[in-house]
Amino acid sequence: MKKFQIINGPNLNLLGKREPGVYGNVSFDEYVRTLRAAYPDCEIAVFQSNREGELIDKIHETGFDFDGIILNAGAYTHTSVALHDAIKAVTTPVVEVHISNVHAREEFRHHSMISAACKGVIAGFGLNSYRLALESFA
Ligand code: DQA
Repeated sequence: MKKFQIINGPNLNLLGKREPGVYGNVSFDEYVRTLRAAYPDCEIAVFQSNREGELIDKIHETGFDFDGIILNAGAYTHTSVALHDAIKAVTTPVVEVHISNVHAREEFRHHSMISAACKGVIAGFGLNSYRLALESFA
C-alpha cells in the first residue's frame, strides 16, 4: 500500500469556517473522508500545525519512507526558508498545494519560498488541489 502524508500549515485547521468565499465551507476532516474513500489502496495520513517547527519535524519524520508528501504550508509558503531547506533535506517528493489561486490574490502571495524545492505545484482548484496532488504521484 502506498503511503502519503498530507501536511497542512497555519490556519488550515479552520477550513470550513475560515473565509468560506475563498476556502469553501467543507471541513478538512469531511474532505479527507471522501479522499480516503476514493483511494482505498492508499494510506493517507493527515497532519496539521500552526507552528513552523512542527511542520518541519513532520517533513523529517515522513520524508524518507513515505511515497509522497502533499504540503499546504499556508502563509509559511511565502516566508519560510526553513521549510524550503526541510523539503530539500528529505528524499520523499513533496508537492506544494494551495486551495486558492495564490496568483490571482494579493501580491505577497505570488512568491513561494518552497516551490523550487518541490516536485510541482498545484493551486486554485479548491480542496480538489489535494486530490490532483495525489493523482500526480500515481
Ligand atoms: C493557502 C494560500 C496562502 O496564501 C494562505 O496564507 C493560506 C492558504 C491556500 O491553500 O490557498 O493559508 O495556502
